Amino acid sequence: METKEISQAVVGRLPRYLRYLGELRDEGVERISSQELSERMQVTASQIRQDFNNFGGFGQQGYGYNVEYLYEEISKILGLDRKHDFVIIGAGNLGRALGNYLNFERRGFIFKGIFDIDPQLVGEKVRGVEVMPIEELENFLEQNPIDIAVLTIPKTSAVDTVDILVKKGIRAIWNFAHVDLNVPEGILVENVHLSDSLMKLSYNLSRRMKEQTKG
Ligand code: NAI
Repeated sequence: METKEISQAVVGRLPRYLRYLGELRDEGVERISSQELSERMQVTASQIRQDFNNFGGFGQQGYGYNVEYLYEEISKILGLDRKHDFVIIGAGNLGRALGNYLNFERRGFIFKGIFDIDPQLVGEKVRGVEVMPIEELENFLEQNPIDIAVLTIPKTSAVDTVDILVKKGIRAIWNFAHVDLNVPEGILVENVHLSDSLMKLSYNLSRRMKEQTKG
């Protein structure tokens, strides 16, 4: 398969394709046309074809897409064919919720450790993993090859913590702290702001309500 650079916009759409294909596979569907997939996903068939053409198409004229094959290929493109160990920094509400989320494991993201600065939380278990004191983070990262650090701490603490993570060779950060992180080149940061999504919903809701009062 080609390994050419895929635009971030396409990469951003791949998880949704994967979800739908996973559902189709579970329903026992073996193949699907771009038209049928388009109706199901509410995106145009040409968008689907364009997206899939980025990595060789996958489809066959008159046959459509083989669901299992497409699912496996998109998984590979997303790097889900290998395991990624992760640690969570901050065992508060959000950190614990993420640690407890079993679906990450099914996708190959393995929850290896959780750290907090609050001594009261140390020793508590999150899905069988004991909360460790933040002072042990460096040592832990030296002993365990961890790919991803999940940051669920306040922004004021995030910068110092990131320095440790970078020093200890973490290559990817899933950042929930509300701060833009300044990291050296080569370190990947994916920022998540749930409120962005909520604000988008609010915008659409406000528009809908205005339209209804007009009509
Ligand atoms: P929380 O207060 O329940 O948990 C934060 C935890 O971080 C606490 O247990 C605290 O002891 C720990 N902590 C603080 N400094 C630390 C450090 N240097 N090292 C290790 N642990 C440290 O807060 P919650 O609700 O879990 O949220 C966590 C952070 O994520 C907050 O800053 C919040 O603003 C942010 N957040 C971001 C969201 C997003 O969509 N990006 C959504 C919800 C929260």
